[in-house]
Amino acid sequence: MLRLTVHRHFSTSSAFFANRAIVYHSNGNPRSVLSALTFPSLRSPPPNSLNIKYLLAPVNPADINVIEGVYPSKPSPTKLNSDNVFVAGNEGLAEVTGVGSGVSGFENGQWVVTGKQQCGTWRSGANVNVEDVIKVPKGASEVGAATITVNPATAYNMLSEFVDLKEGDWVIQNGANSAVGQAVIQIAASRGLKTINFIRNRENVDALKKQLEELGATHVTTYEELSQKSFRDKVKEWTGGKPLRLALNCVSGPETMSMARLLGSDAHLVSYGAMSKQPLSLPTSLFIFKNLKSVGYWQSRWYTERTKEEREKLMEVLVGLMREGKLKEPEHEIVTLGAGESDEEASNKVRDVMKNIMEGQYGKKVLLRLEGE
Ligand SMILES: NC(=O)c1ccc[n+]([C@@H]2O[C@H](COP(=O)([O-])OP(=O)(O)OC[C@H]3O[C@@H](n4cnc5c(N)ncnc54)[C@H](OP(=O)(O)O)[C@@H]3O)[C@@H](O)[C@H]2O)c1
Repeated sequence: MLRLTVHRHFSTSSAFFANRAIVYHSNGNPRSVLSALTFPSLRSPPPNSLNIKYLLAPVNPADINVIEGVYPSKPSPTKLNSDNVFVAGNEGLAEVTGVGSGVSGFENGQWVVTGKQQCGTWRSGANVNVEDVIKVPKGASEVGAATITVNPATAYNMLSEFVDLKEGDWVIQNGANSAVGQAVIQIAASRGLKTINFIRNRENVDALKKQLEELGATHVTTYEELSQKSFRDKVKEWTGGKPLRLALNCVSGPETMSMARLLGSDAHLVSYGAMSKQPLSLPTSLFIFKNLKSVGYWQSRWYTERTKEEREKLMEVLVGLMREGKLKEPEHEIVTLGAGESDEEASNKVRDVMKNIMEGQYGKKVLLRLEGE
């Protein structure tokens, strides 16, 4: 559990406004622990560093878990004003605004994303070590670039790193309407892979099915349909009996067991989330008789273990897909914390955003734009 001593309260004046960050002093419910904090202009960047201005930063499910203190990677405290605080946010798009001595290959205006985990992206400006950023090649939209390092990267790597899939092969996944799920659908389609996609039932389920099919999903179906005995025959009909060798899971719970039962021999079940908050329970027979491999995937680990060249290559591949129109930006809403708003107003706004996200009221990705100098 992270906890820092609190020295300051809200500034209600924007008279000295230069930069703003969304911060917390100790873990807890984001609706109560987050606040907006103004801080002064950045100094000229020290050697081997860059000053950056954040353009957009998404709110991902893991960000909430980090603030709650239940996520394995933790941020380090940062000194803003006289306070040590944790700055929230892990992902975001920034523009270079200052280049320190000893840095080559960067200029003002270059778009970058942060390769360092939990560096605190819900802020308007920051000074960063040049080694901690990755250049964004031209061709991505602002929203596309701001959401590229987590969800599309996870989707791409899960489709590439576990099973040697060939054109015409099948992939099954749950949580298919999640941002990762939508990236899986599109990246799979760009490679000629076919997908069976599971979603929760809802009032307008046909509209959602249609939306995912338009992204390139081969079949979209609900967990209710998955639980029916006849569903296995339907899958055989769809695939012509071709064995399924890769299943992607971000939900866990009983539905994932039903999905795993559809897999053929020597298949991989790759788990990357547990949105149902239920454990993952699998029949032992799948391991004994079908040689199932049940593994986890964590994009943060990938970034820690891989070289900067590998990270840059992944960025090029993903922006290349965006440029070709094969990977669209997620459905989103941008929430701006304006320079004219006091810290108290901005704090209330961000807490409302957290409340709505935690109550599942958006149904699309929310991105924060923190105005600064
Ligand atoms: N391991 C990694 O490296 C990695 C990387 C990226 C993301 N993730 C994880 O992947 C998951 C999805 O992330 P995202 O950013 O794509 O999320 P997102 O766009 O916010 O989507 C959330 C998804 O979870 C579903 N969901 C929510 N509560 C559920 C429940 N109780 N039962 C079943 N489904 C439920 C939602 O379905 P409805 O529309 O029906 O609510 C939606 O499909 C999260 O757990 C996230 O932490 C992991």
